[in-house]
Amino acid sequence: MLVSLKEMLQEAEKNNFAIASINTPNQISLRAVIQAAEDTGMPVTINHAQTEQSVVPIDIAVPLMLDYAKKSTAAISVHVDHGYDFEHCMKAVRLGCTSIMYDCSRFPLEKNIEEVKRFVEIVKPLGIGVEAELGAMPNNMPSDVHGQETSDLSDLSVYYTDPDEAALFCERTGVDVLTTSFGTVHGMYAGEPNLDIERIRKIKSQAGQVHLGMHGGSGTPFDQIQQAIDAGIKKINYFTAIDTAPAPYLLKTIQESKNPVNFCNLANQAMEIIYQKTVEILTVFKNAGR
Ligand code: 13P
Repeated sequence: MLVSLKEMLQEAEKNNFAIASINTPNQISLRAVIQAAEDTGMPVTINHAQTEQSVVPIDIAVPLMLDYAKKSTAAISVHVDHGYDFEHCMKAVRLGCTSIMYDCSRFPLEKNIEEVKRFVEIVKPLGIGVEAELGAMPNNMPSDVHGQETSDLSDLSVYYTDPDEAALFCERTGVDVLTTSFGTVHGMYAGEPNLDIERIRKIKSQAGQVHLGMHGGSGTPFDQIQQAIDAGIKKINYFTAIDTAPAPYLLKTIQESKNPVNFCNLANQAMEIIYQKTVEILTVFKNAGR
């Protein structure tokens, strides 16, 4: 069933778990992620990122995502991940996305606030949730598929979110979800992950009713993920570890096959691996039984 991210987050706050926010830029991952949500009973946000336009344009992806969400027995919301342009985000509104990340974190604080505030004023009356980012997410993607430049990862603290600025940002924009930076990396970590959990607690205590998001979930040790949930993070973006999981297995299948390899068989194998990886991460995000 199609459920708003906001409803899911209220449930997550009440029961101290995190909503997985997973990019599904093809039908293999879309089906696998939804199946994992159904089998674990966990709500999931399926994403289309603006950088995935070259893989599948939003006007093709979102109608399909909405159709799968509506037919699923799991609670699924359909979300735009890192929408950088106002026009792109407005297109997502017209297509029926239940929430949108309008990412203006590349701008100075005041312009980030102004842009996000304007967007919130337009889409909130339509019942659409808005996520924004403050601080910056460093990038270290495994390939240039997403067209993102690799960041300098020598000192992640230069990207961190300031708790005072977070409080100001939330008060002035009225945003529903604030993504903050406290040591995670989009893609792969360069060194040992070491999240600034105390920073999450400070942001949570200063930023009012906003829900806190964490990006760059892949590669983060599970105990640190659960500490982040306990400290206030309730939406976690997780993609690279899922998207890269099938490749080694597919390579082995191709190398060991004595016959030409059927693409449909590879697709089915990839779907099973993505499913298993998603079940694993949803179980961590459930944050239960510790
Ligand atoms: P990872 O690919 O590092 O898990 O991050 C995903 C993400 O934050 C998408 O916005």
